[in-house]
Amino acid sequence: MPCETSSVTVTDSVFLKACRREPVPHTPVWFMRQAGRSLPEYRKVRQGIAMLDSCTRPELVTEITLQPVRRHGVDAAVYFSDIVVPLKAIGVDLDIKPGVGPVVAEPFRTRADLERLRPLTPEDVSYVTEAVRLTTAELGDTPLIGFAGAPFTLASYLVEGGPSKNHEHTKALMYGDPELWEALLSRLAEITSTFLSVQIEAGASAVQLFDSWVGALAPADYRRSVLPASKRIFDAVAHHGVPRVHFGVGTGELLPLLAEAGADMIGVDWRVPLDEAARRVGPGYALQGNLDPAVLFAPTAAVEEQTDRVLAAAKGLPGHVFNLGHGVLPDTDPDALTRLTAYVHERTAR
Ligand code: CP3
Repeated sequence: MPCETSSVTVTDSVFLKACRREPVPHTPVWFMRQAGRSLPEYRKVRQGIAMLDSCTRPELVTEITLQPVRRHGVDAAVYFSDIVVPLKAIGVDLDIKPGVGPVVAEPFRTRADLERLRPLTPEDVSYVTEAVRLTTAELGDTPLIGFAGAPFTLASYLVEGGPSKNHEHTKALMYGDPELWEALLSRLAEITSTFLSVQIEAGASAVQLFDSWVGALAPADYRRSVLPASKRIFDAVAHHGVPRVHFGVGTGELLPLLAEAGADMIGVDWRVPLDEAARRVGPGYALQGNLDPAVLFAPTAAVEEQTDRVLAAAKGLPGHVFNLGHGVLPDTDPDALTRLTAYVHERTAR
């Protein structure tokens, strides 16, 4: 007689059900940049270890990935890493400067620079495989979200040499040398596809492609110069059968195109209400979002009022994963995130 068990498997988790637009007992919650950032226990374990070094230590990665799950009771973990890790792994000379972000020693501007972007192999990131295995074993029924940077956002760091407000060198290359631009994005798409596949094969239950800075583009330029490369990534990982999330900031005008690129769930920032976002992306997609991360600096009553607004806009959508409209801000009070998680669970319990 088969053994009867009531244990929930990761496949039946509330987060994955919502991604698949199946009925859920409550709206699942996780926060972009929940690992690291505001947690004192994170600052403690990171002491004296550079950001990119910490990403290569599987036990440390597992601990940091689990910290917000333990503390806030969120419905999914996000793998502790960074979007520039695969670039570092193929030998690009870059570093993450505290409080600044990724800085590239020699910016990419010419065809000769392409030579520095060789394909990524799983062996280049064997520490990722090990860390994902370790982490998923510890997480049990809680799903792990893997992630990567999208070609446009990665290209922006490579071409500008660091964080940029206007992306002027990136756009100059995109408009001025479309052939080189296409070659650059193709290579980045290939690297990213491998990086996501490594995480999925090691046990990640879902993947998110971060195109954080793509909101800087007009729709026609996105369609012509970026969508094909991002689409290649979603197509390349489709056979794994795990939900694929596509997120960017300031993408109100791009939402239909982000959906067209091939994701299952679209991440929405706080500028577009979720019901309007649903109209823009069309049927067949789950939505993730979209409380303004700055709202968490307001008193609890105001946070709850704004959360109710997000939940009201999401009411009736077939698949909703609650999140912030962008990452947790560094000075956020961790208790505000714990309260918010419980509040969303409570308000959406059915
Ligand atoms: O979500 C998580 O908590 C998992 C870990 C994660 C990090 N970076 C760790 C990190 C994730 C998902 C990212 C993604 C990332 N990295 C994005 C896309 C998401 C977004 O916010 O738009 C981008 C654009 C980057 C690039 C990057 N890395 C920036 C701009 C910065 C510096 C500023 C900052 O603190 O955010 C980083 C550094 C970084 N990545 C830190 C962490 C924990 C801080 C490292 C330190 O303090 O030394």
